[in-house]
Amino acid sequence: MGKKTVLVTGGAGYIGSHVTVELINAGYDVVVADNMSNCDLTCFEGVKEVTGRTDIPFYRIDCCNQESVETIFNAHAIDALIHFAAYKAVGESVEQPLKYFRNNLDSFITVLSVAAGHGGCNVLFSSSATVYGETDRLPVTEESPRQPAMSPYGATKQMCEDILESSVKAAGTGIKGMALRYFNPVGAHPSALLGELPRGVPNNLIPYVTQTAIGKRECLTIFGDDYPTPDGTCLRDYIDVVDLAKAHVAAVGRMVDGKMKKDYEIFNVGTGRPVSVLEIVRAFEKANGVKLNYRFGPRRAGDITAIWADPSLANRELGWTAQRTLEDTMKSAWEWELHLAALNKK
Ligand code: UFG
Repeated sequence: MGKKTVLVTGGAGYIGSHVTVELINAGYDVVVADNMSNCDLTCFEGVKEVTGRTDIPFYRIDCCNQESVETIFNAHAIDALIHFAAYKAVGESVEQPLKYFRNNLDSFITVLSVAAGHGGCNVLFSSSATVYGETDRLPVTEESPRQPAMSPYGATKQMCEDILESSVKAAGTGIKGMALRYFNPVGAHPSALLGELPRGVPNNLIPYVTQTAIGKRECLTIFGDDYPTPDGTCLRDYIDVVDLAKAHVAAVGRMVDGKMKKDYEIFNVGTGRPVSVLEIVRAFEKANGVKLNYRFGPRRAGDITAIWADPSLANRELGWTAQRTLEDTMKSAWEWELHLAALNKK
């Protein structure tokens, strides 16, 4: 059997670039599509350097544009499609809901329509643990009910899951689907050639930590120290981005090898290990021998106390388990920040 081809939309972004590397390492041909609305070419250049492949087909297109997506399906026989192309800032989605609904739904509907028009393919959707909302049944399994979305961003994740499931069920689309629900993706590639590129002041914890450590930000504020958790700070399941990328390779393998047990499947992708904000700060300081300036502040609106995954279904069915330690992850995040600082000095 010849090599399988995977189309990665949003493949120049944070998670997409790591997934592209791991797919290529696993022997897939990868086609990347990205409109570069929230990234530059840094990560895609990093992908080429890490894989030694300078010939990765790259389409600078907007996935909301059907003709552009058609161009890709006309040029390549796509066996699987991984859809990352979406806006992802929770706070911005509250301020500009229509921008989020229009882009995130339209891009997914467009790629699904084109895929169906070309006889269908395997579709992996990049979903989020945000679909579970606040739940007191922890750890969270795939059976846990979805809660009303806490933001328009979260709503688009729920709706896209539903759109995929309905497309799979409809006769004649030829689409099989999988949703991976990520917990908190963090860290960077061990080469320090690709990682997260937050625009402006970061909302997420790890970029704020690394930017504080390097002096771009004065002080990290830990949002809340009075949560009902062992040390009073929130608990999350921080999944290393390389482990996360490898889960995608396992998932694509299951789809293209015809091993799915249902035509639409859902998997949690997490470590199963709850870690507090304070533990993150300490792990970062210890792994890198760096002192972090931090203080406690009030709770952040909309934050939930604790959420972490039960990843046993993915462990069992995908044959995948998170491997990297928190120390590995904290080191990689710091190396990436140092790499970015060096690039800016050029
Ligand atoms: N935090 C701080 N200070 C900061 C930033 C974050 O204390 O400056 C804390 C938050 O309060 C939270 C933890 O660090 O307790 C993690 O916060 P992030 O913003 O990094 O991540 P969230 O858990 O809020 O959000 C993540 C993803 C979203 C997704 C959500 C729910 O970024 O895309 O999980 O699954 F929607």
